[in-house]
Amino acid sequence: MDRKDFLKSTFAMCGLAAIPTGILQSCSKQSYAAPSNVNFTIDLSQASNAALNSVGGYILSNGLIITRYNATTFTALSATCTHNGCTVYYNPTSMAITCPCHGGTFDANTGNVLGGPPPSGLTKYSVSKSGTILTIKS
Ligand code: FES
Repeated sequence: MDRKDFLKSTFAMCGLAAIPTGILQSCSKQSYAAPSNVNFTIDLSQASNAALNSVGGYILSNGLIITRYNATTFTALSATCTHNGCTVYYNPTSMAITCPCHGGTFDANTGNVLGGPPPSGLTKYSVSKSGTILTIKS
């Protein structure tokens, strides 16, 4: 048996056993639940929500990522990646939501998957604005 054959047979016997179970689990098609029964408000006049007064700003609240998508549109999406449950963030430069764990990307307006391993999009919630108050609901 030469060196090449030895390596092939060794990998064949041990290759899968050498992969930590965490990696295998992270590659599975498991689904992570988005928040349900959502109903809360955000006051844009509060300093803690000031990021939403500028296009491209976002905050995390109640398990949702809320973005100021453009001058008149706010969006609210689940902040839980559907691939493996990591918390996503908004990238105003690309106008996409990105997952830091495995590079999944989502459309920041619809929540649809743009790329990467997520099996489904982020759940989208309704947002209405009255004065300085945003109301977010399931
Ligand atoms: S947890 Fe894997 S792409 Fe988000």
